[in-house]
Amino acid sequence: MLFCTFIAADRNFASADEAVDIETGNRLASVLRAGRGVISNNQELINDASIGDKGFTGEVFFSAAIEAYLKKNGEHPLDEGLDPESRSMTETQINAMVEVVDESQEIINADGLAFKGFIPAVFARLANEKFGEEMADRASIKVTAPKELVRNRKARPDEWENEVIVTKFQAADWPVGEAFFEETAVDGKPAFRMLIPEYYSESCLACHGSPKGETDVTGFPKEGGSVGDLAGAISITLYK
Ligand code: HEC
Repeated sequence: MLFCTFIAADRNFASADEAVDIETGNRLASVLRAGRGVISNNQELINDASIGDKGFTGEVFFSAAIEAYLKKNGEHPLDEGLDPESRSMTETQINAMVEVVDESQEIINADGLAFKGFIPAVFARLANEKFGEEMADRASIKVTAPKELVRNRKARPDEWENEVIVTKFQAADWPVGEAFFEETAVDGKPAFRMLIPEYYSESCLACHGSPKGETDVTGFPKEGGSVGDLAGAISITLYK
C-alpha cells in the first residue's frame, strides 16, 4: 500500500514538472511572437530611406514587446510569481532580443537605404541564436519549417522536428495551432521538446506567397503559400 502511494506521488511530481515545462515553452514562444510583432509593427519605419536615426532602440523595443505580451497574455512575462528557472530563462530571452536590436542600430539607422533585411524572421533567428549561446545546455529556441519551405539552412528541421511536422502538423486532422510536446532526448541528453505550428497570414504572402518561384524583396524565391498553410514551427527544447 505504501509502495503504491509512493508511485502515485511520484507520478504527480512528474506531471507537475511537465506542466511547468509546458508553461515555460508557451511563454518562450509567446515572448518570441511578441518580439517579432514589434519588429513587424515598425517595419515601415525601419524601411524608411528618408530617415536616418529612427529612435528604434533596444529600450524602445523592450517597452513595446512587454506591452504587446501583456496585451496578449494579460500578465507580465517576468511576473514575480513565475517559477524561478522559467523566469530567468524568459529574462535571458528578452535581454537577447534587446541586444539584437541594440547591435542592429547601424543598419536600422542607415540613411538612404530602404530595405535593410532587418525583418521579423531575421530578428528572431539572431535573438534565438543569442539565447542558445547564453543558455548553452539548459534550453534552446529555434524557428524551423517543413523541409520543402526552409530558406535559411540553419532553420532546417532535425529528425524529431521533421517527424512531428510530417506526421502531426501536416496531417489533415491535426487541430490548427495545437502544439506537440514530448519528453525525449537530444544527442543523448534527456530533454522536454515542444513544437508549436505557425501558419501564413495575409502579411506573409508578399514574401512567401505567389507566384511561386518569383523573387521576393529579400531575394528568395516565393514558396507559393496561401493564408492558413503551415509555414513553420517554433521549436523549444528544455534540457533536464
Ligand atoms: C519581407 C519578406 C518576408 C515576410 C513578409 C515574411 N517572411 Fe518569413 N522569412 C523571410 C526570410 C528572408 C526568411 C529567412 C530568414 C533568415 O535568414 O533566417 C524567412 C524565414 C521564415 C521562417 C523560418 C524558416 C526558414 O525558411 O528559414 C518561417 C517559419 C517564416 N519565415 C514564416 C513566415 C510567416 C509565418 C510570415 C508572416 C507572419 C513571414 N514569414 C513573413 C522573409 C519574409
